[in-house]
Amino acid sequence: MTVVYKSDPVRGREWAAILAEHAPDLPFHMWPETGDPAAVRYLVAWQPPADIGTLFPNLEVMFSVAAGVDQLDLSAVPAHLPVVRMVDPNLIASMAEYVVMGVLMLHRDLLDYLQFQRDGRWQEIRVTTAARRRVGIMGLGSLGTAAIERLRPFGFPLAGWSRSPKAIAGVECFAGEEGFHAFLARTDILVCLVPLTPETRGILNAETFARLPAGAGLVQVGRGGHLVDADLVAALDSDHLRGAIVDVVSTEPAPPGHPFWNHPKIVLTPHVASMTQPQTAAHVFLDNVRRHQRGEPLLGTVDRGRGY
Ligand code: NAP
Ligand code: GLV
Repeated sequence: MTVVYKSDPVRGREWAAILAEHAPDLPFHMWPETGDPAAVRYLVAWQPPADIGTLFPNLEVMFSVAAGVDQLDLSAVPAHLPVVRMVDPNLIASMAEYVVMGVLMLHRDLLDYLQFQRDGRWQEIRVTTAARRRVGIMGLGSLGTAAIERLRPFGFPLAGWSRSPKAIAGVECFAGEEGFHAFLARTDILVCLVPLTPETRGILNAETFARLPAGAGLVQVGRGGHLVDADLVAALDSDHLRGAIVDVVSTEPAPPGHPFWNHPKIVLTPHVASMTQPQTAAHVFLDNVRRHQRGEPLLGTVDRGRGY
């Protein structure tokens, strides 16, 4: 009964050390080395090998090394295999931290002040209190709700938008297509934390931006496929949007000449808002393996019909 890991090899070596210490009964192989393919029961991967079904005939669970699973071709994973995404406390905490950073940068006009500094201009912008800056989170899952809890102490009026209705104390909750426009209309800083699915692809587009109040800002930490790049640039250039903190783009790394590299109203980071951390993720994985061995439900099982 073995584990194959197919992702970043540097972090893989940390996984190997943790599993060797805490689960000596689970031999660990780092792709492309697999040991006996018939012995492989658990695969941990960013993307599985194309022929996963024939390659590992006795595979029992496919684990995504990431919180998102849009990078997996779910149709290529045999239908009987559960697909489990990563619900890692460190990944969740660092996302909440990044969202707070992005929201505060926009709230406190940091993009303007960076430009003033480059221009050698000593210029003030009147401070807006947090109570007057409405923050809206698209996605109320493990990451969206953690971001809300980290934002709460600042006193921003908070709202969230999800597929199914939710109730969170002190948070105005909107749901479904029918709630989207009202959610946008009350949102001064929009944070994208929905998964990338056919329903959410391209959701950050010209119409969405037009529905935000003038002067709104964007924190884009979902997936590159959510955003129509040219629509963001147009909304910023027309001054309808004040600025954007962007962590993910449709082609990563962003190619040379991509308009985000040098846009004065965009802060671009290289998909680092949060990362799977071996020191916690390997234990999350192991806990799920033990649940599987005991016949208990797995945490983070993906609903293939919904795509997340
Ligand atoms: P999650 O726990 O599955 O939560 C997803 C949330 O999005 C849920 O509240 C869900 O609504 C909502 N949602 C899904 N489809 C929707 C739709 N069509 N309309 C409205 N709401 C919808 O996911 P998570 O762990 O919070 O992760 C969210 C995403 O963050 C990941 O999928 C990934 O793309 C991204 N991510 C980015 C980074 C980074 O470094 N930039 C790192 C990790 C993850 P329901 O509650 O009704 O199901
Ligand atoms: C990273 O982007 C993840 O989905 O975990």
